[in-house]
Formats: sequence, structure tokens, C-alpha cells
Amino acid sequence: MPVIQVDGQEYEVEAGVNLLEACLSLGLDLPYFCWHPAMGSIGACRQCAVVQYQNAEDERGRIVMGCMTPVTDGAIFSLSGDKAQGFRQSIVESLMLNHPHDCPVCAEGGECHLQDMTVMVGHRDRHYRGRKNTHRNQYLGPLINHEMNRCITCYRCTRYYRDYAGGTDLAAMASHDHVYFGRQSDGVLQSEFAGNLVEVCPTGVFTDKSLVHDYTRKWDLQSAPSVCVGCAVGCNTLPGERYGKIKRVHNRFNAEVNGYFLCDRGRFGAGFVNAGQRLLYPGLRNIDGRYDALNHHEALRHLERACAPGKVAGIGSPRASVEANFLLRTLVGEENFAPGFSDAEQPLVELALRLQQESRALVPDIATIESADAVLILGEDITNTAPRIALALRQSVRNKAYEMAAELRLETWQDAAIRNLAQDQRSPLYIASVADTPLDDVATDRISLAPDDIARLGSAIAADIAGQSYADLEQSLQAQVEAIAAALAGAQRPLIVSGTGCGSTAVLAAAAQVADALCGNGVHAMLALAVPEANSLGQALLTGGGAPGLAQLQQQAASGELDTLVVLENDLYRRGSARQIDDLLGAFKQVVVLDGLDNQTTSSATLALPAASFAESNGILVSMEGRAQHHYPVFLPQAERRPSWVWLLACMKEMQREEAQTLHHFDDITRACAAAIPALAGITAAAPDHHFRNVGVRIPRQTHRYSGRTAMRADISVHEPKQPVDEESPLAFSMEGLNRDQPGALLPYVWAPGWNSNQSLHKFQAEAGGPLKGGTAGARLLQSGTGAGSQSVTVPAPFKAEPGRWQLVPRQRIFGSDELSALSPGLAELVQPGFIEVCATDAQLLGVAEGDGLMVTMAATMAVDNTLATLEVRVNDTMAAGCAGYSVGLAGVQNLTPLATVSLSRAEGWQRRSPELIGSDRDTGPGGTHV
Ligand code: SF4
Ligand code: SF4
Ligand code: FES
Repeated sequence: MPVIQVDGQEYEVEAGVNLLEACLSLGLDLPYFCWHPAMGSIGACRQCAVVQYQNAEDERGRIVMGCMTPVTDGAIFSLSGDKAQGFRQSIVESLMLNHPHDCPVCAEGGECHLQDMTVMVGHRDRHYRGRKNTHRNQYLGPLINHEMNRCITCYRCTRYYRDYAGGTDLAAMASHDHVYFGRQSDGVLQSEFAGNLVEVCPTGVFTDKSLVHDYTRKWDLQSAPSVCVGCAVGCNTLPGERYGKIKRVHNRFNAEVNGYFLCDRGRFGAGFVNAGQRLLYPGLRNIDGRYDALNHHEALRHLERACAPGKVAGIGSPRASVEANFLLRTLVGEENFAPGFSDAEQPLVELALRLQQESRALVPDIATIESADAVLILGEDITNTAPRIALALRQSVRNKAYEMAAELRLETWQDAAIRNLAQDQRSPLYIASVADTPLDDVATDRISLAPDDIARLGSAIAADIAGQSYADLEQSLQAQVEAIAAALAGAQRPLIVSGTGCGSTAVLAAAAQVADALCGNGVHAMLALAVPEANSLGQALLTGGGAPGLAQLQQQAASGELDTLVVLENDLYRRGSARQIDDLLGAFKQVVVLDGLDNQTTSSATLALPAASFAESNGILVSMEGRAQHHYPVFLPQAERRPSWVWLLACMKEMQREEAQTLHHFDDITRACAAAIPALAGITAAAPDHHFRNVGVRIPRQTHRYSGRTAMRADISVHEPKQPVDEESPLAFSMEGLNRDQPGALLPYVWAPGWNSNQSLHKFQAEAGGPLKGGTAGARLLQSGTGAGSQSVTVPAPFKAEPGRWQLVPRQRIFGSDELSALSPGLAELVQPGFIEVCATDAQLLGVAEGDGLMVTMAATMAVDNTLATLEVRVNDTMAAGCAGYSVGLAGVQNLTPLATVSLSRAEGWQRRSPELIGSDRDTGPGGTHV
């Protein structure tokens, strides 16, 4: 390891890093703006200037940029000398010539990297007396606010947006001292990852619009370590609360799950916690069909009375915690517990789990996904189902560039040099999907096929890799099979990505087959399978496959075996057609629903109990890679809301159930679940239990800058009550305690002296850009890469488009396809009307054009009322012929089942619903033009 000298002191540093990284890792405060640990260096802002001396005799030295200077053995630097300090001070002053100095009214104020760096360099007096440039701000959509005058031209935003996230509609425009960072014209930012600009921009140009509109000073936010419930990736988050509302969500760094970035569904999709549809009080349906409000004691008695006689079934939820599901399963018995998937989804999720358990391939975390040097995506539109994985895949295609850089001995942080060197050369990424995907721009090739043909293609690739013959494919596909097989087999770290998104078990099986074929050749292949919801995999692990589905419970109820149904945090009307769910609920004498939201299922309940959201409750969720992660309450639930596990445990205790007698705390349930379910044995390692203390004290949810605690309730009393004590976790609802060096799972915020913005993260990392000092949060439950390989796979017959028949294929949308995020007002503006996509040839056959209506009817049925849906047509020439893509989760598609064969016909008198510009979820704002 090289030894360098900084201000007369010798330090041993990591080889291959730059001086800025080395200084930050050593705990030395060197200011910076344009460097970012995930994006490397470009040397644009000149803020990290230091003086480098040639040798011990050199007294003058020369100014160099820390972020562009490799550390070499014997190098001598000065950070604190007048020359370096003066230079940095003048840089901040010049960067701020046009800055409005509007800190008191700026949404970034108090958590602003520019403020911190200004103080750090000692800049105080402005000398410039000229006129400042002022810019017109743009409308960038309902999620992000733009205040261009605050820009310091560090270029971080465009580097992130264009180079890192692959966006095209944000750019640096104009020149000289008029550089403008924005869109060519007003309009919604198109990238699914645009929200990260809020954290990437070191000043207040891009800010979170929902926070700006309902403002709270950032240091007054109470926060706790949390996990995003937007999809199965399990990104770590820091929701911030004030006045019982979630005001914003920030990224919580986890080197193996989400790094520095979230997707916009996760960042802006937690508004459902504040939604008007949240239940506050239990309700008991009276004889008029209306609900009488109960207090929680009365509600508990009714719950106990409903469950006591037995004959109770439970429907769990892939969006509820392992613990709540485990308790419900214990309450109703294993044989009467359905995990809460739709009947179509259950076999898919169970298969995804089994394939990962059996595969010889590694189940990768996000850092490993970024290291892949050849990727095949089979059937999954991963940007819309597990968005953060797509951002990682965008980085994986850069491995070609890093290989080229390594040949020239260029360090990996030399961002601009490496991009210039590689230009458009990328590592191979192949996609086989039913239609276009947002990753197509970085794909080597994308092939449109029906799901069965995607599975056939996968099987053929696996056979080719294994040197076996394979079923006949079209001539054109054979060349592609050979090219893909060669790219994967020739790679060091090939990755196969698939998932439940296209609704086909054959596609999932084919993906595992390819991964195992690669492993059979001695290659360290990876297999990443996306599942739909935050705890889908946890549900599959809990039930172990073979659990009853919704249809089976309905049959048992109809035959009189069951008479009471308890539904846990699950809107069943999203899991089947209205008729199916009406029949299911109607088969039971009474239906108890525990949910936070007033949805169609809650409205069908005999007894409805208000459940706390993820932000008000402890819970463990198991992500798609089998990582158990603990989320903690950010604030306590109001009124009669209780976490589902609290309702269920209290009910079991009321019933004097033996299993409940030893359960007193949340951790006891975690331990009981781990003991009862071998596949979940590892969940106790997800985070320390509630006894943990950090050097003898709790970990505070409030920073010591938190203010106004008395004022918040001064309308009630000027006496501040004692802060509530959290009996269930090592965290405190106060400023008292220690937020330093604790286990990574317990990090509620980042802050360090002089570092008030999120850039203080490096103070919590083992080294700048490295893992947290306290270790990476979460516990992996899958024994990755230890399986015996997938069983023999049945290759489906080729898909044949029949005249007058279409196969329904799911088309997922980042905004609206999931249940919760669209309840956030900002995201709701971006959810489009339901649609159905057909290719141009099929549209012509059907006699429809873009914006027309199409009636979807059951094929081959004589039923009078066989209409399943009427949806707006999108003509998408990339859609596989004979397939009709329907928008999962959007309005009007409830009766549609993946891969069902249907008839389509033009709906007369249809009024166009979507705006003229179609093609992106975000083209709904004013003037949504692309640059
Ligand atoms: S908008 Fe923000 S990130 Fe972009 S150049 Fe300006 S200060 Fe830097
Ligand atoms: S990728 Fe999934 S888990 Fe991560 S922020 Fe987005 S929605 Fe949340
Ligand atoms: S951080 Fe080094 S030049 Fe910007």
C-alpha cells in the first residue's frame, strides 16, 4: 500500500484510489462538488484543490485537483496550506457569483453540501458587485422542483442523468457563464431514476416537490432505517416524518442492495402512508351495511370472537412482514393459510424460489450485478418490475469500458477518460421480451417473442452452451442463439435475468436452464429472478410451496370446512376478477380485514381493523435475492391503528393460544418464526434485537439539530410530554443517544460535524465509497450457488398466432402497476389510463388505430356477458405478433389473466383517454417533449 504525506503526516492508503478518496477515507475534510463515489472524477469544479510537492525540497508546490490525482508512494501534499485554502475559497466564491444566496427560503437549506463547503473553505464575503444571471425555471413534472439560479455548474446532474442512468432529456445547454441544466422545453423528466437528482445535486436546484409543497426543515425530520415496499428489490430507505406524515424518502446506503440510488417509485411512492384512504379506527359492519367505529379493545373482542370457534382461514400478503404473516398462519393453521398471491402468480413465485434454491448459479446482489460482463434478460421488463436492478444493469454494460481502461492502466475513477476511450462500446446485453423495454438503448440485441418462444429461445441457448442439439427454431433465431450463447460462454461473470413479470413458468425455467448450462461449463454464472412484491419471496419461504391458493380456500368455505376469513394487508380485488373475489368473500360467513387502506376488500369486511404501514411498524421483508431486512417505525401509529402483528398477537393472547404465551416482543415473533420455519432460520440475523444498545445508549431517530418539539403541540399544551419509549427496537424517539459505528441495519440518518448534507455518508463508511463501518444491513437466506442444478425442462411448443385469437401478455408500468405507490399524489399524476398494445399488423387486422378502444372478450365461450375489459389501443410495432400487451394494475384490467387466450374487437364510440404523446409513463405533463 502506498504511503503518502499530507500536511507533514504520513498515511498508508489504498492503492488505485485518488487523493480525494484517500483523504475522505482517512477522515480528512477535503471539500468537493463534482466527484461522486458512484460516478468517479472529472475534475470539473476545482473545489478539491490541494498543493502537491515534487519532493521534500520543493517549497512552492503546484495546485492539483485531489479527485484527479492518483495516490503514489512517497507523494507529498498539503491540504491546509494557505495556497490550497485560498484557491478553494476563491473557487467557491466564483461558483457562487450568480447564486441567489436564498438559503433561508431554500428547500435544501440546512442540508446543503454547498453551504457546508462554503463554511469549510472559509468563504465569507462576496466581492462581486455586478448583476447576477437569472434563469427561468422549468416545470419538470410533479416530482421534482427546479430552481436553476442556485446552480454552481458542477455537472453532477447531467453526468448522473445521462451517463449513469441513461436519460436523454436533461442536458447542459448554452455556454460561457450562461450554462443551463434542464430540458429543452418544460416537461416531465423521463428517466425512471430522475428523483436521484434531488440527492446528487449539491445545492437546491433539484428538490423534492412534495417536500417543497408541504415543507419541513430537513433537520426537523424524524427518521428510521426502513426498506422500500415498492417492489422486491428491497432498497434501503430513510423516510423522514414530521406531524405524523412522511415528508420525503431519502436513500439509505447499502453497498449490496441499492448503493446510492433509488428509483422514482420508491422515492416518491410512500405518499400512501399519508393518504386520506388510511383507516384510523376499527369498523364493524352493522345491519344497514355501514360501519360502526370501535376502539381497539372492542375491536379485539370482536376479532377474538370471530376467530375463537375455529374454521378460520387466513390470506396473508406479499406486502406484509414475515412476522405478521407468520402469526396469521399460526392463528389459522398451516393448511388454512394462503400466502395471498393470485392463483396465476403463486406457482410463478414458488418456482422462482425453487429455481434459485436448486440452481448452481450465484444469486447476485446489486454490486455483483454491476460486475456482470455479459447479460441475458429473458422475458422480464426489469425496469418496470424491479427498477433498481435495471440501473445496475446499465452499469454492467460499462465493464467493456473498464476492460479497455485496464489495458491502458487507467484507474476506474477516471470517468471522463474512460467514457472517451470506450465511446459506444459496451459489454453484451441481450434481451428477449414480448415488446420493447427501457433498457433497449444499451442492448446489443433485443428480440420480440411470445412467452413460449422466449422459453424456447432460452432452452436453445442453454443447449448450445452445453453442446447439445435443440428443438427447431426459425433460421433467424438460430444465428441469435449462437451469438448469445457465445457471448455468455465467453464471459467471466455472465448473468441471466428473468422473473415472474411475463407470467410464464416456462420462461423462468429456461432462465435457470441457461444459468446452469453455464455453470456446467465451469463458468461462475449468476441468476437473478424478479418477483412481484416486497415480501413475495418471504411468503414463498414461509409456506414452502404447496400452500392453498385463493380458489382452494373458496372451495373449502363452500363445503362448510371454513366459515371465517382473515385477510392481512391485501386488496384481493387486485388478485382476481371482481366476480372471483366476490365469490371467494361471499363463501365465508364473516370476513375480517386488517389493512391500512380503505380499499375494495376492506369495504367488503364484516370487521375492518386499521393496520399500521411500514413506516409505523417493525417488520422483516425478504427481497428477491433472499435478503431478510428489518424496517423500523419512523413514527408511532395514530388513533387506533396498530401494526398487524400487534393485532394478531393480542388476539392470540386473548384466545389464550399456547403459541402466544412466550411472545412478548416483536423479536420473539421473529425468533419463533425462525425456529418453526427452517427456510427462514436466518431472519434473526437481519438486525440486532431490541436489547441492543450502542455503547450503552439507544440510537436516536432525531438529529441533535431537531427543533420545535414543544411547538408542534403547543396548541394542545405548552408542556412537552415525555417522548414515547420504543420497547421494540434499539432506536429512540428522541435526540438522545449515539448515531455512530452501530450495525448498518440501525442507521437512521447520516450527519457529521461540518457535513450536514447526505455527503456526510463517507463518515459512516469503512472507506469513501465502501461499505458501512457497521457492516451491510440484512441477512441472506438463500445458500447461493450450492444447488444441484435445474431439473430437466419441458420445452413448450412454438407459439402460433391463431386467426381471431390473441394471447394476453402483461406489460408492467413503474407507475401504477403496483398497489401502493400510485396513492402518492405526485406519482398519481403520472399513472396513465389502462391500455392494450398490439403490433401494427395486428392493429390493421383489427381495424383499429392508436387511441381507439378494443374490447377484450373470453375466447371460445358462449357466455352472453363475456367481455373482460375495454381498453385504449396502443400500436407498438415491437409487440410480438399474436400477443396483446395489457397494462398490469392500471384501471380497467382487473379481469385479465396473464397468458389467457382472448378475442379482440373494436369498441365503437370509444373516447380517447390518454394524451396525444404516448410511449412513456411520463409523457403526461405539459409539453412533455424529448430533447
Ligand atoms: S444543477 Fe446541481 S448538479 Fe447540476 S450542475 Fe448545477 S449544481 Fe451541479
Ligand atoms: S427498485 Fe423497488 S425497492 Fe428499490 S426504490 Fe424502486 S421500488 Fe423501491
Ligand atoms: S471534486 Fe475535484 S474537481 Fe470537482
